[in-house]
Amino acid sequence: MRRSRSKNIQPLLRESHLSKNDLVAPLFVDENLTEPLLITAMPGQFRYPVSGIARVAEQLWGQGIRAILLFGIPVTKDPVAQSAYDPDGVIQQAVRNVKAAVPSMVVITDVCACEYTTHGHCGIVGETRCGEKDLLNDASLELMNEIAVSHAVAGADIVAPSCMLDGMVGSIRQALDDAEFEEVLIMSYSTKFASALYGPFREAAGSGYEFGDRTTYQLNPGNSREAYLESRMDMDEGADILMVKPAGFYLDVLAGIATLGLPVAAYQVSGEYSMIKAAAAQGWIKERETVLESLICIKRAGADLIITYFASDVCRWLDEE
Ligand code: PBG
Ligand code: ZN
Repeated sequence: MRRSRSKNIQPLLRESHLSKNDLVAPLFVDENLTEPLLITAMPGQFRYPVSGIARVAEQLWGQGIRAILLFGIPVTKDPVAQSAYDPDGVIQQAVRNVKAAVPSMVVITDVCACEYTTHGHCGIVGETRCGEKDLLNDASLELMNEIAVSHAVAGADIVAPSCMLDGMVGSIRQALDDAEFEEVLIMSYSTKFASALYGPFREAAGSGYEFGDRTTYQLNPGNSREAYLESRMDMDEGADILMVKPAGFYLDVLAGIATLGLPVAAYQVSGEYSMIKAAAAQGWIKERETVLESLICIKRAGADLIITYFASDVCRWLDEE
């Protein structure tokens, strides 16, 4: 085997490659801000004001990033997330600003209610049959349709529902088609685990919940057949791109879902980012090597796209190689 590992031969035989086209940069837009605000749990990441987001998109475009994923923090929240589908809401404004400045940037929007509800859950909350408060499935679908269509009206290229509701992809596809947005893609957060690794995101997006948790809609980390089935169902409902989230702890699941045939995105989430940042800041690991290793492993497992907070850093490192 060592003949194939010599310095000049090894690059020719490399199986997995990482390129700028694989990367999606997540960005937080905060309607309450006039200046960027550092997210303390995610060193190097910021919430940006609506007025500043086009500039950020321009810089990323200049670095070679071709797609961004937008999350919004609104001024007002209520129990039914009305600010999420306001034509002049934070995301709707942000999408318009980015598209006006960088028309070719692929703009993906997170379609969910948790940043817009006072209770912090991902849709409409009510009482279940057992008298417990929980996220209501069918009652939340119309809300997701409204949000997705409002993003499409603003100019989003891809909508990304992340609420893990049954039927969300089919419902949103129908709503987009009815509104004549048949060209807008759906990237479904099709296999999303109830993960402790979303911790830093709760600070980033201000989306902590006031009761319960998300285990009645997100997947149990121990279940792989169910994980596969979730993506399979979203594929049948018309998803264009599937997703596995988080990425690094779930590479076996990613490899399985990549065999379904649709493109697959892997989301290296906030906790994965912050763990690497924290250990690197202590001098316990090397940041660049660790990040590049984490990403090439995600590619090796079968991802076509990687959503990562390191996207901008990776562009810089790829330029230096
Ligand atoms: C909300 C949402 C979450 C993330 C993306 N969309 C948090 C959650 O489901 O609790 C997590 C992203 C990250 O941690 O980087 N639907
Ligand atoms: Zn949510």
